Parts: sequence; structure tokens; C-alpha cells
Amino acid sequence: MQVIKDISGMQAISDARTNGIRIGFVPTMGALHTGHLELMKRSVAECDYTVVSIFVNPAQFGKNEDLSRYPRDLDKDLELMRPLGVDYVFFPTEEMMYPDGYKTWVELSEISDVLCGASRPGHFRGVATVVLKLVNIVRPDFMYMGEKDFQQVVVLETMLRDLNLKTQIVRCPIVRDENGLALSSRNEYLSKDEYIRALGLNRSIKITRDMAKTGERSVLAICSLISQHLLECNARIDYVKIVDSNSLTEQVEVNDQSRLLLAVWIGKTRLIDNARVLLDN
Ligand code: PAJ
Repeated sequence: MQVIKDISGMQAISDARTNGIRIGFVPTMGALHTGHLELMKRSVAECDYTVVSIFVNPAQFGKNEDLSRYPRDLDKDLELMRPLGVDYVFFPTEEMMYPDGYKTWVELSEISDVLCGASRPGHFRGVATVVLKLVNIVRPDFMYMGEKDFQQVVVLETMLRDLNLKTQIVRCPIVRDENGLALSSRNEYLSKDEYIRALGLNRSIKITRDMAKTGERSVLAICSLISQHLLECNARIDYVKIVDSNSLTEQVEVNDQSRLLLAVWIGKTRLIDNARVLLDN
């Protein structure tokens, strides 16, 4: 496993690849957990070589967000990755990615402005910009991404399609801990009490699915009950929505395309989760 700290070094590796070699890419912001490692394992299993990037992208954090306290520990991350068979770790600096005079930004209309985009203005502009830059540097065939960040996957698939890039996103399922909490680097911020309250997210998914299974189709009825449940967990609700999983538009009635998307604050920590509403029999 080789750590590459400069853009030209990474580009030289992409340039040197021969026809038919499949590059898998896993973009991350570090503070790795099993959710990230599962993406890497899948890439290593399916591709000829795997590149992981670690870059805490300042452009996707709002002014009052947690950029300065976002967990960073390169040595620990490298230790976690070493046994997996990752070939290259790309670890650029902020100055390399956004040098003085940097001016170019990628914006997507509509899908960037709803859900997380509504409460985190500019977030997806930062995500789309950095991912396009990373894709241009690494030139992967496949980019492995988690459905944990469901809107991010939809935004980036749209960007790759709209800009005629050949990279394909491979969607990977959400990895949860033994109590059902979706793994996130931000879970490190939670106190014991907050952790217990955060389990309300996964319970909300179960309640939603149970309601749908017994025939409830009203989005309003489901979202009202879920909001009530989350408030009982002492969570501050950012949003509780059931949307069409392709367009991310809000639905009135549940159908096979429905996805429940949740964002809440538990204390000072913002957590997200999501799931399909109707499961296949
Ligand atoms: P980060 O939050 O580090 O996540 C990197 C990748 O890991 C994303 O594709 C995310 O969806 C996936 N991931 C995180 N937790 C997961 C879980 N519990 N189960 C499955 N996958 C999980 O997402 C970002 O970084 C950034 O926005 C990035 C795309 C790197 C751009 O800066």
C-alpha cells in the first residue's frame, strides 16, 4: 500500500494503467470505520487495483459546522486499511486541492437544494466539486459509495451522467453497529446518553416498515408517527421525509420506490439515516 501525497503522482499512476485494467476508487474523509472498510473490500474484490482518498474537504462544510473538530488520524486509518489489499492511498492537502486563485465549482439544480441541501446550503456544491476533481485525478472505472449518504449518491450519479464521465458508482449497503446505529465518523461525538437516543433513528426505520407492511400508504401518517417517536428520543428533527428514490421528490403515497430519509440533531451532532420503505417479499 503506497501513500501518495501529490496530485501529479496520483495522475501518473492513472496514466500508466493499461487497457482492460479496472480501477476501483473509494473517496473518504478519513476517520475510517467498518462502513468505509466494507467499500474498500468490495473494490479490492471487484477491481484490479483500488485507490482510497482521504481528504477532509473544507468546501462541503458550512461556516458553523464541525470542520475544525472533524476527527483526523492518518496513522490509525492506514493501519485499518493495510490488511485489506488497498493499493494506493491518495492524501492531498487543502492547498493542493484548492490553491490560491481557485475558482471552479460544480452545482446541480434541484436535487442539491432539498433535504440535506436545504439545511446545509452549499454542501453538495462542495461534495460535487471535490468528487469531480478526485475522479479527474484518479480516473476510476468504479467508485464505491455508501447508501448511508443516500442523497450524495443520487447527486453524484447525476453529476457523472450529466457531465458524460465514464466512472460508474457502485452503491453499497449501509453498515450498522450491533444496535442498528448506522456507522458514521460523527458517532465519535456522541455521549453514552446521546448514543442511546440516536438508536431512535433505526427504530424509526423499523416502525415505518411495520406500518407499510400492515398496509399503511399515507406518507403523512407515517412521517407524523416517526416525528413523534424521534421527539420522544429527545432528537431535534431536521427532516423526516419519504421521497421517490430516483428523483428525491416528496411522495404522498408509499410505493416500491419510496425511501425514508431522516436527519436529526442529537445534542450537537447531526445524524442521518435512510431505508427503503417497502421490502421485497
Ligand atoms: P465520508 O463521510 O468519509 O464517507 C465516505 C464513504 O463512506 C461515502 O461513500 C459514505 O456513504 C460511506 N459510508 C459512510 N458511512 C457508511 C456506513 N455506515 N455504511 C456504508 N457506507 C458508509 O461521504 C464523504 O466522506 C464525502 O462527502 C466524500 C464523498 C469523500 C467527498 O468529500
